[in-house]
Amino acid sequence: MASSVHEKLKETAALGTEIPETGWAYQDGVFKRLADAHVSLATHALNYGTGVFEGIRAYWNAGQEQLYVFRLREHFERMRDSCRILRLELPGDNRVLADVTLELLRRNEFRTDVYVRPLAYKAARSIKVALHDLRSGFGMFAFPIGAYLPTSGLAARTATWRRTSDDAIPARGKLTGSYINTALAVDEAHDAEADESIFLTRDGHVSEGGSANLFMVRDGKLITPAVTDDILEGITRDVVMTIAREELGLTTIERPIDRTELFIADEVFFCGTGAQVAPCVRVDGRGVGDGAIGPITRRIGEVYFAIARGDDPRHAEWRTAVYR
Ligand SMILES: Cc1ncc(COP(=O)(O)O)c(C=O)c1O
Repeated sequence: MASSVHEKLKETAALGTEIPETGWAYQDGVFKRLADAHVSLATHALNYGTGVFEGIRAYWNAGQEQLYVFRLREHFERMRDSCRILRLELPGDNRVLADVTLELLRRNEFRTDVYVRPLAYKAARSIKVALHDLRSGFGMFAFPIGAYLPTSGLAARTATWRRTSDDAIPARGKLTGSYINTALAVDEAHDAEADESIFLTRDGHVSEGGSANLFMVRDGKLITPAVTDDILEGITRDVVMTIAREELGLTTIERPIDRTELFIADEVFFCGTGAQVAPCVRVDGRGVGDGAIGPITRRIGEVYFAIARGDDPRHAEWRTAVYR
C-alpha cells in the first residue's frame, strides 16, 4: 500500500490496530471477556458469511460526563430487517437488545467515543449451504474508536468492482459475507492512493461508498441515490436528510446519479456510522468543486457532530444516555 495512504489510515484508530481482547463482550446470554467469546471452526457463518451485523457509535460528552449511544433503536430495527433476509433469529426484542448494549458499555466503563458491533450469525456447525433450519447465535463487542474515514477532505475512486445487486447479494441487508465486495473495492482505492471507493450499480449509476452512503450538491440541490440503487439504507443518511431539511431548508432529491455528475458536482460527501460526515474533495483524480470542503457539507457535518455528542440539545430522541 502506498505510504501516504498507510500513514493516513494509521490516524484512524479503527483500522490501524487489533481490537483489544481484555474488554467485556456478550455472547448468547452471557457477559464475558472478548478473549473468552469463541465460535467453532465449523460455524456456518464463518464458512459461508451467513451473519448480519450492525455498527453503532456512542459519543463521549466530557462536559456532561455522559456517553450517548446514537440512534440505538434504529440500528436494532435495521438488524431485525437484515435478519429477516437471512432467516436469522435475534434473542429478544429491540428493548432487550438495547439493554444489553447499555449494560455492555457500562461494564466496559468507557469514557471515550466507542463503536459497538452486534453480530447475529448462523451458529450451527454445518456445511449445508442454505438458510433454513440452522441455529442462530448472537454476540456483541465494543471498543474505542476515532474517525473511520478522514473527515478533513478525502479522495475517492470509482471501483471497477460493481455493487452487488439486490438480486445477487442484497446490499440492503448488513450481511457479513457481502463485505467482501467492499473489501475488494476499498483495497483497489487504497492501491490507487485514494481513501474510499465509490461503487456503481450494475447499470452504471452511483450506488454508495465502500462503507458509507454518498451525497452530492449540484446547483444548491442535495442529491443522493435512491434506496433501490443497491445501497445500505443508512441511518446517518436519514440524519443528514433531516439536518439538511431543518437546518438548511433543503429537501434531498433521491434519484439515479451518473458517475460524471460527481466530476462536475459542487460538493460530494460520504456519511455513515463509521464515516460520520466525511467530505470528499477528489473523485477519480479530479478536484470536487473548488477542491475544498463546501459550505453545505461543512454545515451538515457541524450539526451532525453537535447533535450526536449531545452538545446540541435537538433530537434528544436520537441519543440514549449510558450512565445514570
Ligand atoms: C455499505 C454501507 N453503506 C452505508 C453505510 C452507512 O450506514 P449507517 O449510516 O446506518 O451506518 C454503512 C455503514 O456504516 C455501510 O457499511
